[in-house]
Amino acid sequence: MNYIGSKHKLSEFIKSNVAKVVPGDLKDRIFCDLFAGTGSVGRNFKSSVKTVIANDVEFYSFVLLQNYIGNSKSLDFEPWLEKLNALTGIKGFVFENYSEGGKAGRLYFSEENGMKTDAARIQIEKWKDSAEIKEDLYYFLLASLIESADKVANTASVYGAYLKKIKTSASKKLNISPAIFEISEEEHQVYNRDANELVKEIEGDILYLDPPYNARQYGANYHLLNTIAKYDTFVPRGKTGLRDYYRSDYCRTGEVKASFERLLKNANFRYIFLSYNNEGIMPAAGIRQIMERYGKYDLETTNYQRFKADNDKNRNHSAAATTEYLHILEKI
Ligand SMILES: C[S@@+](CC[C@H](N)C(=O)[O-])C[C@H]1O[C@@H](n2cnc3c(N)ncnc32)[C@H](O)[C@@H]1O
Repeated sequence: MNYIGSKHKLSEFIKSNVAKVVPGDLKDRIFCDLFAGTGSVGRNFKSSVKTVIANDVEFYSFVLLQNYIGNSKSLDFEPWLEKLNALTGIKGFVFENYSEGGKAGRLYFSEENGMKTDAARIQIEKWKDSAEIKEDLYYFLLASLIESADKVANTASVYGAYLKKIKTSASKKLNISPAIFEISEEEHQVYNRDANELVKEIEGDILYLDPPYNARQYGANYHLLNTIAKYDTFVPRGKTGLRDYYRSDYCRTGEVKASFERLLKNANFRYIFLSYNNEGIMPAAGIRQIMERYGKYDLETTNYQRFKADNDKNRNHSAAATTEYLHILEKI
């Protein structure tokens, strides 16, 4: 998924630095990805560590993480995907509120894809309710639907707005393709909690932190993924059909430093890594100052091509490349 702040392309930079800093074999270590998003970092550690703990406060992300990190045994998913892809569309909540031809007139999906999304989402829940599928397959199918629907969404990149006309990629028929996860011998843990709360209740060796770095709230930018994931009923608000959403302290200039410091203080992990970039609301020098209070500090940097939605000329920063920091703390 094309996700704001995704570390997909930085996974190897992060992994090689973790391996350099943490002594001994990673195989014996517990690795926690506390702001896991699409799970790209945790996924890259899944077969190299004893346990991955993955967490995100957004529910769509929890669904992806339950599949990519929580699932570890192979699943016979093909017949179920075939059934989903053969369903006739339904004029349900996504169609009426977020699709071409729906009563709300919001063009997030083509008419056909909105109806197919409803039909698939309703069917997945029915299979779960009738105990035809277990939790592992339930999250696999939901993750597959979320990823595939996102590919045909009629947006510039995020769900803050839809395009006025259905673009070419959004007019392609929704095909639910498998959200393949890595098989693993070990069991992993997935949470859907506020990072600052969860961190008090877990412990491990390596804590990887990738909080939002600017004011853009994920719950607003990905509201439609939460709606597909939860499939609850609510009254969509305004032109974009927004739902109520969680507002993270990490997106608020006035709150972020205190939250970050509390998190470090409460962390029961020896090695802590923070990804942040040079355009974030906490300046690098301020991060260093906070981290140094808790142990031995170090810094690695790399240049990085920005996320495509960040290229907007109206934004303050229009450079194509940014610097990604990996702040490192050995907590003493
Ligand atoms: C930069 S993204 C992480 C991207 C991820 N590393 C990836 O590669 O996909 C930040 C994530 O932090 C989550 N988040 C924001 N505030 C949070 C909080 N207080 N607790 C837990 N997760 C939070 C957002 O939902 C978002 O998925």
